[in-house]
Amino acid sequence: MANVLIIDDDREMNYTLAAMVDKMGYDVVPAYTLREGLQEATEKKFDVVLLDIHLPDGNGLNALPSLRESSGRPEVIIITGSGDMDGAELAITNGAWDYIEKTSSILAMTLPLLRAMQYKEEKKKQDVTPILLNRQQIIGDSPAIRHCLDHVAKASISDANVLITGETGTGKELFARTIHENSRRRNGNFVIVDCASMPENLVASMLFGHEKGAFTGADKASSGLIKHADGGTLFLDEIGELPFSMQKAFLRITQERSFRPVGSKREEESDFRLLAATNRNLDDMARNGQFRSDLLFRLRTLTIHLPSLRERKKDIQSLAMFYMNRLCEQHCTDIKGFSPDFFRSILEYEWPGNVRELFNTIETTFLAAYNDPILFTMHLPVPLRVKLAQASITSHALEKSHLETSLDPAGPHPKLREFRQQVVNSGEKFYLENLMGRTRGNMKEACEISGLARARLYELFTKHNIDKTS
Ligand SMILES: Nc1ncnc2c1ncn2[C@@H]1O[C@H](COP(=O)(O)OP(=O)(O)OP(=O)(O)O)[C@@H](O)[C@H]1O
Ligand SMILES: [Mg+2]
Repeated sequence: MANVLIIDDDREMNYTLAAMVDKMGYDVVPAYTLREGLQEATEKKFDVVLLDIHLPDGNGLNALPSLRESSGRPEVIIITGSGDMDGAELAITNGAWDYIEKTSSILAMTLPLLRAMQYKEEKKKQDVTPILLNRQQIIGDSPAIRHCLDHVAKASISDANVLITGETGTGKELFARTIHENSRRRNGNFVIVDCASMPENLVASMLFGHEKGAFTGADKASSGLIKHADGGTLFLDEIGELPFSMQKAFLRITQERSFRPVGSKREEESDFRLLAATNRNLDDMARNGQFRSDLLFRLRTLTIHLPSLRERKKDIQSLAMFYMNRLCEQHCTDIKGFSPDFFRSILEYEWPGNVRELFNTIETTFLAAYNDPILFTMHLPVPLRVKLAQASITSHALEKSHLETSLDPAGPHPKLREFRQQVVNSGEKFYLENLMGRTRGNMKEACEISGLARARLYELFTKHNIDKTS
């Protein structure tokens, strides 16, 4: 509910205003000194503050900027007694919303408050209205990815430097391109500078260009990457790999938009927007003296951290389907289906190479299953299946060791009935999981093999928390 802070030492006035605000349907908090009021405004978000000028511990007008800056960014309405009119006008030129006179009728007092509230409401709506983003080929609907897309939208409407971080294969280049494509610079070039492979002796001419004859082999003039990015975006990829000795030159690039081509006497200008990406921890590198902290501060006016795939497993299925459909389209083959065990397997895997590794795996799988309409775990590349098998053996070994520890010779020995129950439960789960893998989720076959009725199988799946869709 919208709320109002009233700062007035005149208790009767404070009470009258509080009753009025309450009647208008807003929450109200009274404060009787400036200190108390400022304290409330830092602890709680307010939409509007009604502020008296003469307070026991200071002049209300002096607190106006701090109140406006407080967490709720409230609109401030000055409450004026007679003789305060000059102060009230001064307050408005300094950012107060309006002023109300203590002697006014209730109606005259409510109007400015009502308008300030309507204004705040409109502003709130604008704040939550998502900026229309063309998300290109970015797949995923997990909260983590949606959070990143919000940042991309904000970065797209500004011209600020952005640092994109994340493990290898999480989509840093894709997100950088998306920012460019959504920015006002979309018609300019998106120029990638691969900082990991910059030969130190050529860096200046690659970035700034050179005049004819500037050095041996420069038989014609050439403009560098910086000029190429004029009106567009310069993307410093793998910025963490940049040798320390070259970081100073890059600091200059981030600060100045003018440069001098090698062998030239003239300064040239380039109006570019700067994005950078890394999978390294630049804060750690700066602490260890491997990365210039002045460069780091320059680069990250805004930061976007991309989550690893294992932190957003929810997206694995849609990414796999998206990429498989794209491959089918490219190869003009019919769309392939996925068996439940296929999805279960790719969900179990940790994907250290993130989306890139997933896409490569889907491509290998597609080729392995070229003529098969449905994909099964067996179509997955052998090394990945081996890793999955090893992980499952480890987890069963863990279960075994768990049983062993429950028979800890140093601890109390369990009753045979309890221990038997534990073994049965664990064995049941092991059996059912294997059954599902073996039958690839085919319930009819699973019933036949296990000799159990479908209803009983479902009951056991629930008991052991096994995915019933498989
Ligand atoms: N959310 C996503 N939706 C669709 N495709 C994605 C997504 N994230 C990454 N990709 C794809 O994964 C591959 C790797 O992405 P990208 O090259 O942008 O990663 P990166 O973070 O720059 O990796 P590296 O650190 O190794 O350079 C690309 O083919 C990219 O299109
Ligand atoms: Mg990259």
